[in-house]
Amino acid sequence: MKSTIAQLKSCFEQALVTAFGPELAGTDPILTPASNPKFGDYQANVAMSLAKRLKDKPRAIAEQIVQQLDVSEICQPPTIAGPGFINLSLKTSYLEAQLKSIQTDPRLGVEPTSDPKRVIVDYPSANIAKEMHVGHLRSAIIGDCIARILEFQGHTILRISHVGDWGTPFGMLIAYLREAYPKAMQTTETLELGELSTFYRQAKKRFDQDETFREAARMAVVQLQAGDEETLRAWKIVCELSRQAYQVIYDLLGILPVIERGESFYNPLLPDVIKDLKQKGLLVEDEGAQCVFLEGFTNKAGKPLPLIIQKSNGGYNYATTDLAAIRYRVKEDQAQRVIYPVGAEQTNHFAQIFQVGRRAGWITDDVEFVHTPFGLILGEGGKKLKSRSGEALPLRELLEEAIAYASADLEARLKQEGRQEMAAFKAKVNQVVGIAALKYADLSQNRTSNYIFSYDKMLALQGNTAPYMLYAYVRVQGISRKGGIDFDQLSAANPIHLDDETELTLAKHLLQLDEILAEVEKDLLPNRLCQYLFELSQKFNQFYDRCTVLQAAEPQHTSRLVLCDLTARTLKLGLSLLGIPVLERM
Ligand code: ARG
Repeated sequence: MKSTIAQLKSCFEQALVTAFGPELAGTDPILTPASNPKFGDYQANVAMSLAKRLKDKPRAIAEQIVQQLDVSEICQPPTIAGPGFINLSLKTSYLEAQLKSIQTDPRLGVEPTSDPKRVIVDYPSANIAKEMHVGHLRSAIIGDCIARILEFQGHTILRISHVGDWGTPFGMLIAYLREAYPKAMQTTETLELGELSTFYRQAKKRFDQDETFREAARMAVVQLQAGDEETLRAWKIVCELSRQAYQVIYDLLGILPVIERGESFYNPLLPDVIKDLKQKGLLVEDEGAQCVFLEGFTNKAGKPLPLIIQKSNGGYNYATTDLAAIRYRVKEDQAQRVIYPVGAEQTNHFAQIFQVGRRAGWITDDVEFVHTPFGLILGEGGKKLKSRSGEALPLRELLEEAIAYASADLEARLKQEGRQEMAAFKAKVNQVVGIAALKYADLSQNRTSNYIFSYDKMLALQGNTAPYMLYAYVRVQGISRKGGIDFDQLSAANPIHLDDETELTLAKHLLQLDEILAEVEKDLLPNRLCQYLFELSQKFNQFYDRCTVLQAAEPQHTSRLVLCDLTARTLKLGLSLLGIPVLERM
């Protein structure tokens, strides 16, 4: 199915060429969904944008366009408003035909892109041997969602976790492993070292208390960097331990598998970065360190800010590794778009490395590097998120707590409704609802802002929440159960017949999925999809409150069932792109 916008665009193109000549081919009609139903469904702003070029009044231009515009299959006769807006209202017969054409389409009319790209999404990129924190949680949720949407749009996706698996903290951990688990070094079997957090805390305690231990830790870093075999083995054990800890979180969250390509991966490639930058004349020695002086970044004295690429002791840093990654992603992965869902506090870091990447010629106009920043998750009262005991909150506890809250909600609901359910059913519902609520609360915010974390709000049955959306889906499944209807068997021969206002509103909304996904693909703002699904649920509820479905006579009966089914399938598909599964009952 060709999207409505795409169809209207080609009608406009023809009209513009006929009215003003072939030089207007390719002119963007600047079509947007109408801001107010009073103006119809779509509005074209092209007449205003052409006024200068055509040396005429926008209103006169609009009139000439409308004279040539043949949209009779799609819209009622266009009208001109204000200085020269062209307003378009979709015809009922068109909506009916479009719905018919997506009735059996698993993609619900969303065509894969005609320009598939190789895309890298860099997430959750946590740090080995440190607890994953809420910033990594957001990166995981947002990154997973962006990757799913772009993949659905037809792009090839590489999900890469740029884990921090190198550097000074490893000295402490390796030294502690040697001291506390001497056996670990001899066996090749997986070890039970207990919780990573405990391991980390104990190592830190030794480090803070004992100078001999600190010396051993410093030695371990040197040995690690020198490639000492026994030290590398200890490092691998620590990495593996972290990997297991992440996996628990990924599994709980339902994050699709990512490729782990940590900072250490780039170690052998770092000298080439230096060489390349030197060759391009970008490296300057500053107080013994190799630097690139940045454009547009100044220090307090107003002097250009240096980005250190190699420290005076020869060591490399976070920026160097990221530059190696940029180079690798362009040259080896042949990526055409690289997306970094990382916290807003790293905005300068990304602006700086992208600038160096461009000046070095690695990032050309054919590749897009984007940092998609996000804000903080705050506790009640806008303070830093903490556990009840006041400590920094381990992610696992946060997730388990969400499930516990969902469980309390379900128990209360069952009691109220006088329902009995099996333990397995309850466990499944709580798991899905708890995690869905948490993910949805995150994705439904404009990612650039901070938000306040509240279990009660995210689990509310009313409002823009996961439970509200999941309920709308369950409600539709209830209709099919109640009426003994198999949605998959609905006759494709029966016409779609829209007459109630709520049916028309719902139909138009259902047909906008492709436009919304195209927007998210461009702006990488998942909250637009959430808003779309929220409005879909509301429009469905308004339709269902107004129109009888099971009791209706034909042609309304089948037609309305198709509307129900399309709503459910749109919710299911939309939620799956957010990384949220649906439930048949809850
Ligand atoms: N490990 C980093 C952190 O926890 C995030 C890495 C993001 N990705 C990147 N290519 N720099 O802050």
